[in-house]
Amino acid sequence: MKVLVTGGLGYIGSHTCVELLQENNEVVVLDNLSNAKVEVKDKIKQITNKDIKFYLGDMIDEELLDKIFTEEKIDAVIDFAAYKAVGESVQKPIEYYTNNVSTVLVLLKQMKKHNVKRIVFSSSATVYGDPEHVPIKETDKTGNTTNPYGTSKLFVEQILKDLYKSDNTWDIAILRYFNPIGAHPSGLIGEAPNGIPANLMPYIAKVASGELECLSVFGNDYPTKDGTGVRDYIHVVDLAKGHIKALDKLQKEKSGLYIYNLGTGTGYSVLDLVTTFEKVNNVKVNYKIVERRPGDIAECFADPTKAKEELNWQATLSIEDMCRDAYHFIIKNKK
Ligand code: NAD
Ligand code: UD1
Repeated sequence: MKVLVTGGLGYIGSHTCVELLQENNEVVVLDNLSNAKVEVKDKIKQITNKDIKFYLGDMIDEELLDKIFTEEKIDAVIDFAAYKAVGESVQKPIEYYTNNVSTVLVLLKQMKKHNVKRIVFSSSATVYGDPEHVPIKETDKTGNTTNPYGTSKLFVEQILKDLYKSDNTWDIAILRYFNPIGAHPSGLIGEAPNGIPANLMPYIAKVASGELECLSVFGNDYPTKDGTGVRDYIHVVDLAKGHIKALDKLQKEKSGLYIYNLGTGTGYSVLDLVTTFEKVNNVKVNYKIVERRPGDIAECFADPTKAKEELNWQATLSIEDMCRDAYHFIIKNKK
């Protein structure tokens, strides 16, 4: 298959490109490098020994998309291109809705024009808002998102559902990721946020490597086993493999719109992650307990049964693998 991967040089996109190439697909990437480095392209080649075709540009650029679909014989699209910083989305709603929603409309319009009707979309567990119960099933209530980032994912899910209703020859998979962490075991690609990370794992890794002084643990008075927040951390390589399985499903079935949780089904607390990281990497992670972070929820983890049954996909890598690979990437790429 020839797959257009938008945002393909980013964190999850780059790992998915590796899996696609290893499964002998052809890969075309569109990325505007707003949150990625062009060197990632060479790293993907180093891992797979295969080339991707790269278009530098923005997904809002309709002429460019028209050109890509005209020049390449694309069979399917995986759409990762978006902004993802929750806090920033509250400050910049216009930019977030433009980049996370308007661009998807441009993409879908060009897909329709060129009769490419197969798409896998990166959604998030954030669409469940503050879940009524855990583990979360795909049929559970969505909505009550608390920031423009989360709402942008909800909007695109609705757009895709409306599109499918209007024309049931589309093949659509909406993947709701839980908390992707870790890196490729080669240490060549991983998560490299600019500045001070907002998310837990990159923060822990930078404290361990000495780049940051101390982790602030946001609250220890949640109704969880040790009072700290519980999340479903999933290794990015497992997550990437989920996309290959979703594409397989879309290819095999006649048409449809499918929604899957991609998580492990197990929740770990902030302190679980800290102690596992220390043990696996034999390092110290200094931390202090501070106030809860506004908008945070106590617990969030998936019921991944549907993906197991329908995609034949299941996360296989452990929390130890995630901690080891995340740190390996940080150490290997330390300036
Ligand atoms: P990322 O920022 O590393 O990757 C996004 C990529 O898209 C970057 O390479 C960026 O340069 C590119 N991009 C952004 N806007 C673009 C545009 N208009 N045109 C072309 N390229 C553009 O983020 P990620 O963590 O790899 O996330 C990928 C997708 O998964 C996003 O849609 C994100 O919302 C979703 N998601 C991520 C997480 C997570 O924790 N990382 C969780 C749930 C969902
Ligand atoms: C964040 C996003 C969410 C996105 C998800 C995917 C926010 C508010 N939400 O979720 O939209 O779908 O990532 O990865 O950013 N923590 C600390 N100290 C830190 C950082 C985090 O204690 O410095 C705690 C948090 O309180 C939480 C856990 O670690 O309990 C995980 O936090 P984080 O990595 O930011 O992910 P989420 O909040 O789950």
